[in-house]
Order: sequence, then structure tokens, then C-alpha cells
Amino acid sequence: MEAMGVTAALGILLLLTAGGSTGDEAREAAAVRELLVRLLGPGPAAAFSVSVERSLAAESGLDTYRLSGGGAGARVQVLGSTGGRKLGPKPRPAPAPGYCGERDPPYRTGAPCTQSRDENGLYRYYQNVCTHSYSFLWWDWARWEQEIDWMALNGINLALAWSGQEAIWQRVYLALGLTQTEIDEYFTGPAFLAWGRMGNLHTWSGPLPPSWHLKQLYLQHRILDRMRSFGMIPVLPAFAGHVPKALTRVFPQVNVTQMGSWGHFNCSYSCSFLLAPEDPLFPLVGSLFLRELTKEFGTDHIYGADTFNEMQPPSSEPSYLAAATAAVYQAMISVDPDAVWLLQGWLFQHQPEFWGPAQVAAVLGAVPCGRLLVLDLFAESQPVYVRTASFQGQPFIWCMLHNFGGNHGLFGDLESVNRGPTTARRFPNSTMVGTGMAPEGIGQNEVVYALMTELGWRKDPVADLGAWVTSFAARRYGVSHGDAEAAWRLLLRSVYNCSGEECRGHNHSPLVRRPSLQMVTTVWYNRSDVFEAWRLLLAATPTLASSPTFRYDLVDVTRQAVQELVSLYYEEVRTAYLKKELVPLTRAGGILAYELLPALDQVLASDRHFLLGSWLEQARLAAVSETEAHFYEQNSRYQLTLWGPEGNILDYANKQLAGLVADYYAPRWRLFSETLVESLVQRVPFQQHQFDRNAFQLEQTFVLGTRRYPSQPEGDTVDLVKKLFLKYYPRAGSF
Ligand SMILES: *[C@@H]1O[C@H](CO)[C@@H](O)[C@H](O)[C@H]1NC(C)=O
Ligand SMILES: *[C@@H]1O[C@H](CO)[C@@H](O)[C@H](O)[C@H]1NC(C)=O
Ligand SMILES: *[C@@H]1O[C@H](CO)[C@@H](O)[C@H](O)[C@H]1NC(C)=O
Ligand SMILES: *[C@@H]1O[C@H](CO)[C@@H](O)[C@H](O)[C@H]1NC(C)=O
Ligand SMILES: *[C@@H]1O[C@H](CO)[C@@H](O)[C@H](O)[C@H]1NC(C)=O
Repeated sequence: MEAMGVTAALGILLLLTAGGSTGDEAREAAAVRELLVRLLGPGPAAAFSVSVERSLAAESGLDTYRLSGGGAGARVQVLGSTGGRKLGPKPRPAPAPGYCGERDPPYRTGAPCTQSRDENGLYRYYQNVCTHSYSFLWWDWARWEQEIDWMALNGINLALAWSGQEAIWQRVYLALGLTQTEIDEYFTGPAFLAWGRMGNLHTWSGPLPPSWHLKQLYLQHRILDRMRSFGMIPVLPAFAGHVPKALTRVFPQVNVTQMGSWGHFNCSYSCSFLLAPEDPLFPLVGSLFLRELTKEFGTDHIYGADTFNEMQPPSSEPSYLAAATAAVYQAMISVDPDAVWLLQGWLFQHQPEFWGPAQVAAVLGAVPCGRLLVLDLFAESQPVYVRTASFQGQPFIWCMLHNFGGNHGLFGDLESVNRGPTTARRFPNSTMVGTGMAPEGIGQNEVVYALMTELGWRKDPVADLGAWVTSFAARRYGVSHGDAEAAWRLLLRSVYNCSGEECRGHNHSPLVRRPSLQMVTTVWYNRSDVFEAWRLLLAATPTLASSPTFRYDLVDVTRQAVQELVSLYYEEVRTAYLKKELVPLTRAGGILAYELLPALDQVLASDRHFLLGSWLEQARLAAVSETEAHFYEQNSRYQLTLWGPEGNILDYANKQLAGLVADYYAPRWRLFSETLVESLVQRVPFQQHQFDRNAFQLEQTFVLGTRRYPSQPEGDTVDLVKKLFLKYYPRAGSF
């Protein structure tokens, strides 16, 4: 929000208020006025006059806004249009039928059925199924409201609204004859619902308490109300085929297939059951769910479902894949004839060896043209449209995924992001209908998202990223400052210019990984650029320290600099150990584990965005009893660290938070240094598997621990950063 002039943002916001009648125009204008009051306060908000007029877009067919006035004392006139969304009260698929031609029924084997367009599309999509677990997990309405305001200000008009679905599933399963115990055993805990929803997991870290269902239902109603009041399209979930094992108790004849295990979980928690597409229960379960869901929430006719996300289908026969896909779609349209299926295209790029041309074609051809809206989820890195002839004519949204697991770490490929949408749009016979953002976790690398939201509104890439990032810095801090802008240009050419194999978005820094002698410390940029950006930001503090975004960046870049330093000290530790040099080993290991990490923890503790305490407090506040609070807190601790009972996806969702650094990462590094020293002193070789066992004990102790952490910042960021800088910056050049 800080990154964007309010007036310009408002213009964008108005465009998404599309669809429907003049009644809708009035409702949407009112929603925008209320947002202004939340954003600016009643006084300043009164300086804006807001109206929504569909006719504004009549000529171009594109989302349009007009701003005027705003001189000294004058009111700013903001006029927005219905924009190019051709979605009436009964929305049609993005590329409405006329666009790619209504083909008949399922099993179309498909010739492309499209034409190219000359803009970046109607849709500006947001969210990944995983974002709900990594970031939205414990949100209350106040936090949701803030997020939906952000979405509105950035012109998002299509987003998942997946809260509360387990409450609906519970009704459906009860109606089908499952017992409450069987249902409780099926759902995952709150922190792992995303993977329960995609059929990857069940049971793990559950059960969901009754209060969870109630609260999520309530939230979902408010979320939907607000999204709709802005004219956004909320995407609801639909049945993808996964069912609880207990269904086979109630219906012994039912034809289910057990899938393979997922994510190093054993079959107590994964290997879910998939209903056979030709089983009569398939349409029954699918339609029961959608009917119950839409009865509760209404519908905007776009539904998300992922059957084979990161899971090998039981057969690679195209006829099977087509049937499994068609069954999902048929169940949708049996309840809602206008249904459009939003599919995460992740499966195709995640297991390319399975998804050959025939397999991809079977899925894409099983849904009538224009009724499958595919998210090319990781398009900035591994675009799928290029090798599927633009999804064989099905419409797709070019999505930037960018982040995995909500990891901290400065990272991005701004060049690819910048060029990606235009390249996709100009692809021969492109069926691109929009741009999107599908991060697994939010709350990091805002610059990447600022660029991406802007691209949703541009016809061409930003011509000069250096100039763009310079003005980004000025907007972000509210004032232009040479040192700060120079810092950003250094970050742009280093951490934000990631291309090639390293660009996968996970933070692989040794800081957040279980130590070993084989850790990889190479990065795609010159570390000097980060250290120099750090110095420049600090040089700008006298002028900019009163800006909260600046202080945030100062912490974040310090965090990154420390992450670089950890790699450098780790290299010293390893070298010293391999050369059997005890003194340098003790020195480097001691600095890393006993000085550097505790100093980082202190810096992080000074900013409310980097507190384990507020993370865990959110979890506890979502509970209605002490037992529940403890249970939710443990869910959170697992997600941040071990991920499964045995470290099944260890440190995947790593974060650099005060408290986590001091009590989780630092103890592991102390154990590592001490084990290496011990090994030299005792002349016994270092045994990684023995170390791993001991490290697991530490990790589990943290997860099961009950220590309370501050949920309010402590200490002065600038002082703490200065102290750390003075001590370590001179050493940064000496490695
Ligand atoms: C799966 O692993 C858990 C511990 O992580 C264990 O308790 C359970 O018995 C295992 N189940 C199977 C089927 O091996
Ligand atoms: C069960 O479903 C599978 C997958 O669709 C199918 O191949 C198989 O023939 C079905 N079995 C029975 C007994 O209907
Ligand atoms: C694009 O579509 C046209 C018309 O269907 C077709 O003639 C042409 O070969 C297609 N181009 C490519 C590169 O697929
Ligand atoms: C990113 O790196 C490439 C070379 O790998 C270079 O051509 C390009 O100019 C760089 N972009 C920026 C913004 O620094
Ligand atoms: C990294 O940057 C520093 C400072 O600009 C320079 O001295 C050094 O040669 C660079 N290293 C590489 C590998 O390019």
C-alpha cells in the first residue's frame, strides 16, 4: 500500500468493480468509499468523490478509470468503469464462449480454439492453495479485511475463498453416514489443511475442534461479502475425488484407489483414497458437496479442484485421466450449469516425466473448451503454456509463484517477471486471459509483488527496471534518497536478478538448514552487493528512520547480510575441520553460534514483522480454550520446523523470526560446532547420522516446548543494526 499513490491505487480499485446492474454500481462505489475511510480516515477520505459507471469501458472493452481535480482544496474525482470483464450476474468463463467457441461435451480432443489478444487479460488473480496454510492460517476478520483492501487497491478481481470448507464437508460426510470420529480422524490440523484439501495428507496434526468449523464459517461469510462488494470473483472449492477411508466402511462396494505416499509421510497420514470416476458415488459426493456449499455461500461460478497435485495418478492411460477429469467437471455442472473449473497447473510442471503430451491432452480435453481455467502457476520460471500449445486452447492465467513455504530471504527474478506476461500474450495462438500471483506464503520481498501487480495493468514490460526500482524506493519511503535508491539498484542486480537453476524460491541458506559438512553456500549474486546495500541503507537512516517501511527494510537487509555471513563463517568452520585446525574451528563456530545468531535475533526482535511471539499469539488467539491454544500453537511450531512428526519435510517453511533464531536455529549450530570440536579433540570421525539424531532431539524439544515469546517489538532497530554492522561489516570483506 505504501508503495502506491492512493489516488492511482483507487483508480485501479475501481476497475475491478465489474459485473451486474446499476444496483451493483452503487454497492461497489459504497464499498470503495468505506475502504477509503479505513485507509485514510474519515476526514481525508471526504476529499474523494467516487463513482462507478459501467459505460466508461464501453468503447475499449477494457477496465478503465479516470481521475480528475485534486488541486488545492479541490475534491478528487474518481470515476471507474465496469472494465473488460464480460461477466454479468451470471458470470461466464473468462474467455467467454464466443472467445474459444463452445465445443461439445467432454472428451474433446483438441485443436486450439482460440485467438490472440492484445492486452494482459481480464483477470488479475491472487493466491495459491498453500497460502491459506502458510500465511492466512490464524487470521481473524480484521486481518482478512486488511488483505481484501490490499487486493482491491491492487486490482485483484479473482481470488480463492476457501475458508470454512471443512465445515461443509463435515455435513456431507455425516449425511453419507460417516461418524464424527471418522471425520475427525480424516481432517488434518489447521496448519496442514492446504494439503488435506489437495488430497496429499489426512489425519496429521488433527483433529479440528468444533469451534474451528464455526469460526471459519463465520469468516468465510464475511470474506465473501466483502469480496463481492468490490466486484471480485471469489473462487470456491469443488470435489476433486479424494475421500476418507471410512467411506469404504459405509459403502463396502465402492471403488476407490489408494494413492502413493506424499512428502515423506507414511500411509498413516498420506496415501489418500481416490474415488473411481465411474463409481456412482462420484457424482453423488461431488454434487452433495457443491449443493451444500453453494446453499451456504452462494456462488460466482468458478470453482477450484486439484485431483493429482504432486501425486502420481493410478494410471497414465489417457482414457483414465480424461475420465477422472470429466467426473470432477460433470459433478460441478450437475449443480451449477455455468461452472468453470479453475485448475492449478502445478501438476504438469512438477512431474513432467509423467505428464507427457498424451496425458496433458487427456486432462485439458476432458473439459469443454473455455470451461477449464488453468493457472500456469510457476510461469516466471517453468511456464507450461509453451509446451502445451497454450494449454491446447483452454484459457490460462500467467502466474508468478515466487515464494515457497513463506521463507524469508531476498529473492526474485524481476527480469523474467517483467517479460513473462508479454511473452505469454504474444505466444502463437495464446489463450492467456490474465495475470496472477500464487505465492505459497506472503510477507516477504514486497518489491516483487509491487512489480507483478503493476504488470497486470501494463501492455508492455517496464522498459528500465533500474529506473523503476529507483522510483519504487522513493514511493516506498515517501521521499527520494540517493543512498536508499542506490541500495535498491544493487539489490535489483543481485538478489532480484536470479536466473537459472538456483531460482527456485526456497531459502537454502545454511542459517535455516540442519547443519552438515555438505551444505551448499553458492549464490547467484555477488555477496558484496548485499553488504554494500546494507551500508547504503544504514547511511540513509538519519533521513529515513521515521518511515516504517524503511525500518522494515533495514531489518530485512540486515537479516540478509547475516544470512550471507553465516555462509561465510560456515565455510571457515568446514575448512578448519577438514584441515583439523582446532583454533580456527572454535573461533568461527563460536562466532556463528554464540554471537552472530543471537545478534540477529535481537535485531529481528525489534520489528513486529519478525516475531515468533506474534506468530504464536495469533494461533493462541484463534482458540477458545487453553487446551485448544496449546494445540494450535503446536500446529504452528510444527509447520515452521519439522513439518511432520519426524521432520518429514524438515525446514521447508523456514522463517527468520526472533525466537526461532535463538531457540531453534542457534542451538542446532551450537550442537554442530561442538560436535565438530569434540570430533577433533577425541579423534573420532564426525558421523552425520548421529548428528541428525541429536539435532532431531533439539528440534522436537523446540516444537513441543511451551515457552512464551514477546509479541511486541523490543529494542531500537537502528541502534541494534548499527552495532551489528560495526562489528561485522569490516569482516564481510575479509572472507
Ligand atoms: C507412520 O509414522 C508414525 C510416526 O511418524 C508412526 O506412529 C506410525 O505408526 C506410522 N504408520 C505406519 C503405517 O507405518
Ligand atoms: C475401479 O476403478 C478403476 C479406475 O477407474 C477401474 O479401472 C476399475 O475397473 C474399477 N473396478 C471395478 C471393480 O469396477
Ligand atoms: C494458430 O491458429 C491458426 C488458426 O487455427 C493456425 O492456422 C496456426 O497454425 C496456429 N499457429 C500455431 C503456431 O499453432
Ligand atoms: C540481470 O543479469 C543479466 C545477466 O545475467 C543482465 O543482462 C541484466 O542486465 C541484469 N538485470 C539487472 C536488472 O541488473
Ligand atoms: C563482487 O563485487 C566486488 C565489489 O564490487 C568486486 O570487487 C568483486 O570482484 C566481485 N566479485 C565477483 C566474483 O564478481
